[in-house]
Amino acid sequence: MKKIAVLFHSGVGVTKKVANNIAANLSENHDTEIFSVEELQREFNPNVYDGFVIGFPVIHAHPSDGILNFIGKLDRLDKPKPAYLFTTCGWYSTNSLRIFAKHCIQKNIEPVIHRDFWGCPATDGVFKQAPNAKEIIKILGIQDRGY
Ligand SMILES: Cc1cc2nc3c(=O)[nH]c(=O)nc-3n(C[C@H](O)[C@H](O)[C@H](O)COP(=O)(O)O)c2cc1C
Repeated sequence: MKKIAVLFHSGVGVTKKVANNIAANLSENHDTEIFSVEELQREFNPNVYDGFVIGFPVIHAHPSDGILNFIGKLDRLDKPKPAYLFTTCGWYSTNSLRIFAKHCIQKNIEPVIHRDFWGCPATDGVFKQAPNAKEIIKILGIQDRGY
């Protein structure tokens, strides 16, 4: 069974909920561990994993500081490992995934697939405009108020 680390930074919890959901699905057929990058222990060894899921929110059209701090401090992996990158954002992830992917490649983490979950609730106003709000509502497990 492949060993996967789901790593996330989350400000107010949206990215955490998406990461939890992904980890729960992966754990059905992968040896899955999930970590908040802010709570990672010094003993965390990325080399023991076969692959990664890494998620972060878009903040001012950029990857969040929390995820950039994490990748900046990470030691380069002994050998290349694949990763699925995702962002959550209110409206538009701009170049966030591309910016973060460049940091990953420097650390021998090779993004192979990515996704932005947009329409995530920074405010109810953003939520109302989001065409994919129903999908986000389902992932977050919150009540659909008919937006
Ligand atoms: C200070 C701040 C700046 C943000 N900047 C953007 C942005 O540039 N583009 C965007 O689409 N969403 C933006 N958002 C919305 C967040 O990316 C979105 O709500 C995200 O899901 C929050 O994830 P979190 O709960 O894990 O922190 C911003 C939110 C905050 C609080």
